[in-house]
Amino acid sequence: MRIQLGSRRRRLSLHRALVATAIFTVIGLLVLTLRSVDPSTHLPITTSDSENRDANPADITNLRSDSAQSLKTCATVEEMGEAFSREFSEESYRVRNIIQNHFAINGASRVRALPPEEFCRHGFVLGKASEAGFGNEMYKILTAAALSVMLNRSLIIGQTRGRYPFEDFISYSNISFTLKEIKHLWRQNGCLTKYGRHLVIRIDDFQKPARTNVLCSNWRVWEQPIIWFQNTTDAVAAQFFLKNVHDEMRIAASNLFGKPDDLHHRPNVFGELMRLLISPSENIQHAVNWALSGGADPDIALHMRMLMNRSVRAVQAAFSCIRKSVENLKLTSKPRVVLVSDNPSLVKDIAPDLNQFAEVLHFDFKSFKGNISGNSHVHTLNFRTKDWGTAPRWVAFVDFFLASRAKHAVVSGAHRRVGTTFAQLVAALAAANSLGNFCNFTEMIDPLLDQTSPSSVASRVTCLQKV
Ligand SMILES: *[C@@H]1O[C@H](CO)[C@@H](O)[C@H](O)[C@H]1NC(C)=O
Ligand SMILES: *[C@@H]1O[C@H](CO)[C@@H](O)[C@H](O)[C@H]1NC(C)=O
Ligand SMILES: *[C@@H]1O[C@H](CO)[C@@H](O)[C@H](O)[C@H]1NC(C)=O
Ligand SMILES: *[C@@H]1O[C@H](CO)[C@@H](O)[C@H](O)[C@H]1NC(C)=O
Ligand SMILES: *[C@@H]1O[C@H](CO)[C@@H](O)[C@H](O)[C@H]1NC(C)=O
Ligand SMILES: *[C@@H]1O[C@H](CO)[C@@H](O)[C@H](O)[C@H]1NC(C)=O
Repeated sequence: MRIQLGSRRRRLSLHRALVATAIFTVIGLLVLTLRSVDPSTHLPITTSDSENRDANPADITNLRSDSAQSLKTCATVEEMGEAFSREFSEESYRVRNIIQNHFAINGASRVRALPPEEFCRHGFVLGKASEAGFGNEMYKILTAAALSVMLNRSLIIGQTRGRYPFEDFISYSNISFTLKEIKHLWRQNGCLTKYGRHLVIRIDDFQKPARTNVLCSNWRVWEQPIIWFQNTTDAVAAQFFLKNVHDEMRIAASNLFGKPDDLHHRPNVFGELMRLLISPSENIQHAVNWALSGGADPDIALHMRMLMNRSVRAVQAAFSCIRKSVENLKLTSKPRVVLVSDNPSLVKDIAPDLNQFAEVLHFDFKSFKGNISGNSHVHTLNFRTKDWGTAPRWVAFVDFFLASRAKHAVVSGAHRRVGTTFAQLVAALAAANSLGNFCNFTEMIDPLLDQTSPSSVASRVTCLQKV
């Protein structure tokens, strides 16, 4: 599909329709093999059949929980350390370099200054997010950023009514463009008038399996100035390119994500991208500093996503997971554990127990005197429930950046099958922030409901732990 910002409109050819049909078939087949994209399937596995439960039938048809089977068995913390330790750091440094070099060439400051002819030939990838659930929306931007690297194009972050997504809480670095600026530069450089280049956006919708070109087209030869890969709400979409039929695309993808069948080459792509692209807004940073009250960064972050529910077993499993991480760390003092949850009363309940072996940090927004009003979107109330329970929405962003300061591990416990993109991104950013320092990230899933799907994941730092 194409949207034209210029004038001419092209027709869909019969050829394309046939290709689409072929793609549909291929996807059907590839979905079956896709699980190899999923890191957790390659984790060293401890089998405990007694814990296996029937997967929810709904999950089996769900592309993103395709790996449900693999979730029934999980690595122990010790084993995870082995799998993710040295190679992980090396790979992540490698990817950090790739990303830095990419933006040195394709970053806004250089591309802006290109001579008109070169500028008009340059390509862009658009990432656009709304202000729905933070994790999913952030993945849209990160996927666009990853795609820009694979395609050697510049990144555009889309704005809505002149505002970046989550602009009140997140600052964006200056390496990306806005669409507004591109339109302006396009005119200024005479791309249409002198070079006959229409500012066309080629759209590919990941949620339309029959239509997406993610597997069957060589995106690197696409000629449209802007590419928009839509509806990429988790870590999976970008990794589909590892299975693209064109060598050139597969190479570009595995250059970034590592070889699909090799667990030891799993860099923290999303964390590295995030580290470069976003930072907390001043307000949020202020609140984060306040929560740390001048102390050191936390050793471990504990994320409990409970959807207002309580699960004793999830809490127990999380504690056990933290204890194991602490044993591994061999800290000389009590570990500092930052606790974030969408369920404020849970925090009150478990903090005392956690306090027995850890120094608990928590951002108590009610005693924070700062001024974070956030924007006054009409839908704010609606959105809140998606991210962070009853607390005001900005609290989720304070918690996000606070938890991503964790130096050694991120443990996530969820009540049931809920989006864990928030926790994945916390873990990814934390790993990028303290790369080289460690990597024993642990993602814990509720043992009662082990089809929870953090595995779809791919954020290379999240590991599974079942207790
Ligand atoms: C990570 O885990 C491995 C294996 O358990 C352990 O040897 C290593 O010390 C851990 N590293 C850190 C920084 O926790
Ligand atoms: C990326 O694009 C630049 C020009 O924008 C070009 O010089 C460079 O060779 C390209 N790199 C790759 C790997 O295609
Ligand atoms: C972009 O940001 C970096 C770091 O924040 C800064 O050093 C650089 O001068 C900025 N470049 C431009 C063109 O604003
Ligand atoms: C896909 O993304 C487009 C553009 O953001 C949006 O209009 C559309 O509703 C999305 N489709 C689905 C199924 O979410
Ligand atoms: C959890 O919350 C859901 C609604 O969100 C409710 O139906 C359920 O009874 C609650 N309790 C448990 C233990 O699942
Ligand atoms: C809080 O912020 C709003 C707008 O950002 C501003 O108008 C108001 O004066 C601020 N209040 C305080 C006490 O700083």
